[in-house]
Amino acid sequence: MSSQTETAPRRIRIFDTTLRDGEQAPGFSMTPERKLDVARAIARLNVDVMEVGFAAASPGDAEAIAIIAGEIDGPVLCSLARTVPGDIEAAEKALQGAKRKRLHTFIGTSPLHREFKLKLGTDEVLKRIEDSVRGAAGRFDEIEFSAEDAIRTERSFLIEALQCAVDAGANVLNIPDTVGYTSPEEIHELFSDLIARITAPEGTIFSTHNHDDLGMAVANSLAAVRAGAGQVECALNGIGERAGNCALEEVVMALSTRADHYGADTGIVTQELYAASDLLAKSTGNAPPRNKAIIGRNAFSHEAGIHQHGVLANRETYEIMRAEDIGMPANSLVLGKHSGKHALRARLATLGYEIGDNQLAEVFETFKTMADERREMTDNDLIALMAGGDTIW
Ligand code: KIV
Ligand code: ZN
Repeated sequence: MSSQTETAPRRIRIFDTTLRDGEQAPGFSMTPERKLDVARAIARLNVDVMEVGFAAASPGDAEAIAIIAGEIDGPVLCSLARTVPGDIEAAEKALQGAKRKRLHTFIGTSPLHREFKLKLGTDEVLKRIEDSVRGAAGRFDEIEFSAEDAIRTERSFLIEALQCAVDAGANVLNIPDTVGYTSPEEIHELFSDLIARITAPEGTIFSTHNHDDLGMAVANSLAAVRAGAGQVECALNGIGERAGNCALEEVVMALSTRADHYGADTGIVTQELYAASDLLAKSTGNAPPRNKAIIGRNAFSHEAGIHQHGVLANRETYEIMRAEDIGMPANSLVLGKHSGKHALRARLATLGYEIGDNQLAEVFETFKTMADERREMTDNDLIALMAGGDTIW
């Protein structure tokens, strides 16, 4: 028997906002039918919460929420709403058909938002929080409150606002980095402090929601998890306002690949990640960059000869995850000017050419000349090469 006590991994909830914060970005809008298709793919991932839109934003958004609510029954479904009665009514109406519904109500709490956007004093902001959360009680299964621009809010007022929301009945307190301004060290300290100082009933969830303006959304989300956050808000392919939201596939794979480090677990069916990402890219007409972590075309491809040699011998030499774990067909060795003989021989064998060392040395020379002229050597190029020509492009 082991003398060490094993602790069960902490369950982190995944709140997907692809269809709300993600779709809100310029160039990413979808018709209600497309949103339904993407919602099906997100449901197959087994996310805990799916934010499907902002009902009061437009009739199309309300319609998409209602259509999705009528069909998707795995995750809790959620609509965003400002802290105003009209928005909350619109969310309630759109979510009517959902099995489990969450209201996500928010108000800006930072001095910049209070003064320039809302033109409200702190007491008025607190009143709006209290009235909207209390007023929504009993009309939804769960209520989430977000203090928009929390990161740039005075600490004492942020605590007052969150305490007000939880006292009024909010079950989830979201602390967004609306403008992607924070750092892992700073957000770790913030979550530790908030969790210690806010008096909340057992089961209240502290949630993290990070934008990627400085390229740190995933790192910041992971730091918040380390400090006790129980929910991560994220979007597939990292889509969202400006530089985007925390990328769902990245935060999920970081938590699972480094479970030893984070001691946490999400319920995500990671084998569905690639299909969901691909469908989103096709539905919005925006393909993720080739080198995008986890789901980019290059994420499991190798061109350099040294890497290919290593991967052919044991893929763990250059891979920390398996392509199959995210549902990608398989890792691939891309043949190009950096490739070596091992990979060339392996690819030729799959095409039916079993060649000895002498022929390989000969063919390899022509291969390098051809590869210098091409970005990538395709199977057709290799067939032409073996036929003694290099003319197929
Ligand atoms: O970034 C943000 O602050 C938001 C809130 C509405 C949660 O998206
Ligand atoms: Zn956001």
